[in-house]
Amino acid sequence: MKIAVYQFAPIWANIPANLENISRVVASRKADLWILPELATTGYVFNELREVQKLAEDLKKGHTTATLRELTHQHQTAIVLGLAEKYGDRIFNSAVVFNRGELCAIYRKAHLFYEEKKWFIPGVEPPPLVDIQGVKVSVMICYDWLFPEMARSLALRGAQLIAHPANLVLPYCQNAMLTRSLENRVFTATANRIGSEGIGKKKLTFTGWSQITAPDGKRLGRLSRDREGILIKTIDPKLALDKSLTSLNDIFADRRPEIYRLGE
Ligand code: ACM
Repeated sequence: MKIAVYQFAPIWANIPANLENISRVVASRKADLWILPELATTGYVFNELREVQKLAEDLKKGHTTATLRELTHQHQTAIVLGLAEKYGDRIFNSAVVFNRGELCAIYRKAHLFYEEKKWFIPGVEPPPLVDIQGVKVSVMICYDWLFPEMARSLALRGAQLIAHPANLVLPYCQNAMLTRSLENRVFTATANRIGSEGIGKKKLTFTGWSQITAPDGKRLGRLSRDREGILIKTIDPKLALDKSLTSLNDIFADRRPEIYRLGE
């Protein structure tokens, strides 16, 4: 499976321009699956709820849905991308999975970071597990990385690749994802953004370094801290089905959940 991570700086509050750019990039290279940043169509830093309300889209009929259906159909590919979703009167920080012309899954971010709590409602459903060209792909969004239970639960459900749209501003995640990969023996693909948004005290600078990691905890490649780029790697998803560490250790069979019962 050939996967492509696209790192860029979305134009704030300009969905048509961002979709045009995304369409141009996806048409420029061949891949089975594209992973793009969190809130890739809208930008990230908001000043008031009204801004988010104006940008959030109903996925049954939004411009983004129509564009991504057409794009993934035309190029026979799949895309995981973050956006602001309007669902009834609620707004979620969501990631969508489009595959070959179909919207096949929506994940609504469960762990909201910082001011996201002012604009979005936390999702209550576990992330989807989607079959993309025979590979089980799941999704986390950005700050979900800090909750190891999230990646673990996806791996236990059979995910071979975790697609991870992000808008990271702290310096920890990229290295931590090597451990998420190793401790679950899965591939991960973090699509982070670059650039800065907001002014004064609200200014955030994003950390780039989008990357793809392998089940042995190695980084297969990464992009720069502050430049737009595409990272393409061919992975063998079968490697993520093998949970053995030594001839006598299988990291799932060795688990002792009765000892470390999680606090509810
Ligand atoms: C984040 O969850 N956007 C840091």
